Amino acid sequence: MNKLLIRSGTVITSQSMVQADIYVEDGKIRGIGQDLSIVEDAQVVDAAGMYVMPGGVDVHVHLDLPMFGTVSSDDHYTGMKAAAMGGTTTVIDFVPQDQSPLLANLEAWHARADSKAAVDYGFHMNISKLDAQVEADLPLLVQEGVTSIKVFTAYNNRLRLADGDIFRLMRIASKYQMLTMLHAENGDIIDLLVAEALQAGHTEPIWHARTRPAWGAVEAALRGAAFAAQSGAPLYLVHMNTAGEVDMLQYARSCGVPMMGETCPQYLFFTETELMREDGAKWICSPPVRTEFDQIRLWQGLADGIIQAVSTDHCPFFFDGTKEVIYEGTPIKIPGKELGRQDFTRIPNGLPGVGDRLPVMWTEGVGNNRLTPQQFVNLHSTQPARIFGLYPRKGALIPGSDADIVIWDPKARVKYGVSVAGHRTDYNLYEGWNLCGFPRMVFLRGKKIYQDGTWFGKPGIGTYLKRSSGEIL
Ligand code: URP
Ligand code: ZN
Ligand code: ZN
Repeated sequence: MNKLLIRSGTVITSQSMVQADIYVEDGKIRGIGQDLSIVEDAQVVDAAGMYVMPGGVDVHVHLDLPMFGTVSSDDHYTGMKAAAMGGTTTVIDFVPQDQSPLLANLEAWHARADSKAAVDYGFHMNISKLDAQVEADLPLLVQEGVTSIKVFTAYNNRLRLADGDIFRLMRIASKYQMLTMLHAENGDIIDLLVAEALQAGHTEPIWHARTRPAWGAVEAALRGAAFAAQSGAPLYLVHMNTAGEVDMLQYARSCGVPMMGETCPQYLFFTETELMREDGAKWICSPPVRTEFDQIRLWQGLADGIIQAVSTDHCPFFFDGTKEVIYEGTPIKIPGKELGRQDFTRIPNGLPGVGDRLPVMWTEGVGNNRLTPQQFVNLHSTQPARIFGLYPRKGALIPGSDADIVIWDPKARVKYGVSVAGHRTDYNLYEGWNLCGFPRMVFLRGKKIYQDGTWFGKPGIGTYLKRSSGEIL
């Protein structure tokens, strides 16, 4: 029997911060309390001076995602390893709807992920086409533990659904207690502005932001809120990036609409000015990074509880995919952002972040008194687990929960960057940042998978999580 006793740490949960010991047996937390007696054969970890938190839960990642003739550079091994090295032990990835029936897509994604997974993981299903077969397939998804779907009001002729289809789908999904997630931008206006920009010879990365205006996100978020209000179906707003979206979410929630939302670190730390740099393509993601005004409102939304989760939308591409990097001793190169050197519309959308999330958010959020340690745990682990049907197996440190535990050194000082983060990319958005607070040890179901820069995991150790229906917070 695998036994572990973590002693004398300060245990942080969404509710409290107290000194306690945690006893783990066979991957589950069995006891938590002061001065637990030492059990024979137990591995004892002295966590004095450390914080002990539930492993991070990142509910928005894209791994091994084909895009623009290439593929995102982290697969289900490398991306999950990077997650773990940053303290995240559960991720939820998105399954594209490439074929019919829906379960065939799920099977295809399991084939990509299962043998590689390095932390525990679940799937959301993108719905980019709605027909009678899809309607019939939705309850089968629930049986497979996929209890959330993502829809888009942008990416015309590719991923976007008509408004009426989104409304209809939300109603059907809610009948099966599934949560609809909304990518809120205005696809028609984006297409028009992109055509005009290209016509005028504007090819630089900044035009990615200029052709995807914040008002499109605000308007589409309110549209989503109206769908939720009129259908009674819950809605989760993904990658919130503008002040106006926070206002829309606040308005919807104040009207009793079952709506929730997430933001991502890139929207809290970077602005459009990054896109004007020579290496601006590194910051290209959809929706784009915005302004300092938006950042302030997003932080406020997190602190005030208007926004329920911080995820990453992790979807990295090499900045220069013509050059090799060494990953686990082997050279690798994957076409990336250079594909759009002559045309911003060809730059693969997305950036790295799954491993950065906890260290960067701790330094900037807790370190700068924007969030309490309890809020930090709530936003990065507990609430995401609750919303997406994983709680209390994940996101909690209580008897019966999986022993996904992070031992966090609040005093660790780290000069952060690509050589520290575990992502399989050639750059990091936080290069040179001085971080204070970093994971020392990470346990997945009671097994140590990371300690002080060393990775102990391997492909295939992650378990697929059949999720239940989540809570509406
Ligand atoms: O740029 C991004 N975020 N790429 C991933 C796709 C999406 O819409 O989340
Ligand atoms: Zn999206
Ligand atoms: Zn995404």
